[in-house]
Amino acid sequence: MNVARARADFPALRPHRGRSRIAYLDSACMSLVPDPVLRAMEEYYSDFPGCAGRSLHRFSEEVSRRYDAARDAFAEFVGTSASEHVVFLRNATEAINLVASGLDWRKGDRVLVSDQEHNSNLVVWQRLQRERGIRLDILPLSADGSWDAEALERALSRKIRLISLFHTSNLDGRSLPIREIAERAHDRGAQTLFDGCQAAPHRAVDFDRLGIDFYALSAHKMLGPTGTGILVGTPQALSKLRPLGIGGETVQWATLTDHELRPPPYRFEAGLQNYGGIIGAHAGLRYLQRIGLAAIESAQRELNREVTEALSGLARVHILGPEDARDRPSIFGFTIDGIDPHDAALFLDEGWGVLVRSGMHCVHSWYERRGLTGSIRASFYLYNNRADGAALVHGVRELLERLPSRPEGPRPASPRGRPARKARIA
Ligand SMILES: Cc1ncc(COP(=O)(O)O)c(C=O)c1O
Repeated sequence: MNVARARADFPALRPHRGRSRIAYLDSACMSLVPDPVLRAMEEYYSDFPGCAGRSLHRFSEEVSRRYDAARDAFAEFVGTSASEHVVFLRNATEAINLVASGLDWRKGDRVLVSDQEHNSNLVVWQRLQRERGIRLDILPLSADGSWDAEALERALSRKIRLISLFHTSNLDGRSLPIREIAERAHDRGAQTLFDGCQAAPHRAVDFDRLGIDFYALSAHKMLGPTGTGILVGTPQALSKLRPLGIGGETVQWATLTDHELRPPPYRFEAGLQNYGGIIGAHAGLRYLQRIGLAAIESAQRELNREVTEALSGLARVHILGPEDARDRPSIFGFTIDGIDPHDAALFLDEGWGVLVRSGMHCVHSWYERRGLTGSIRASFYLYNNRADGAALVHGVRELLERLPSRPEGPRPASPRGRPARKARIA
């Protein structure tokens, strides 16, 4: 299998119903699924639609085997020694919520997040601040993507209980040195949670060797079906978490007055699970591994380099984060003076079949502090090729040509030809 030919395996990218060519550049939100994922899910529902670990009939036996195999595969993929370190959940948001609500907080405990976190790794801590009296400390990050170890040391000197940071930013694609962060944190007695949503689809994680406590990811950003996420944790860390919900499948035994919980990860997976989804996610993982993360990352770097070279230096275009595309391989985030990001996104879709994300990318706090209405984000994955990059570049250039020569006031002007669709605030 070859990254250059991957596009053909994705049904959503095939021309159908008269649709013209699409450049899907929104994989940071969710990736597309290849044929093997659809087949695996169809197989589950048509050939062995059962519940794992409950009944003894053949459907149940088969789904149990496949569900366990998926857990083994994800454990190996993230570099952890045992499949019991992998908890299947709905998404990374649920994984972060599980840690946030599962630890035994004491008033005054401190949590450190950066000033560029996705809402999924921010508002949960704000709620704990209000409801449990924890303190939320903010680590400021540089605008250019450079890493400031001193800033982390200063923050850690305030006796942090848990550091919760992104591994790769969904806003500008920069990555943080999580091994170094984990070492510094542990030296000071802090636990670590990394939000791997934008990293795990693109790079090897090596959980055990990194020495981190928790890692959250969403399989629907790495070729899996929607609503599939994972929390990876060390046995010690998982054993101290209170489950978000308990019930069927989470107990060893129960009487009318008492119960005993099963060990992790089963105590965290209450009720009937998304078996079809997890089996599909496993098929997505196999596809990803057959192509290889290294090949994917190098193709993305090259594509991002081409787009960056073509669009940087243009008057009105401002690229977010690191200047060098190699330091943000999967993401090209930008603003254009004089146009609202939503208008730009609609123009690119209608005019060029280029599907990008616009708005605040669930990092409202970052834009709010800068007085920005949002940005435009093109995110790349294995099915993107040079034609997709070229469509984006041509679309942005046409947009710039259509803009009035001077940006006007705080509410930016729309280009002529703006489609009538209503933009949603994201
Ligand atoms: C960095 C980051 N964290 C968390 C999330 C939330 O992921 P999910 O919606 O799959 O829970 C996203 C989604 O875009 C993300 O990019």
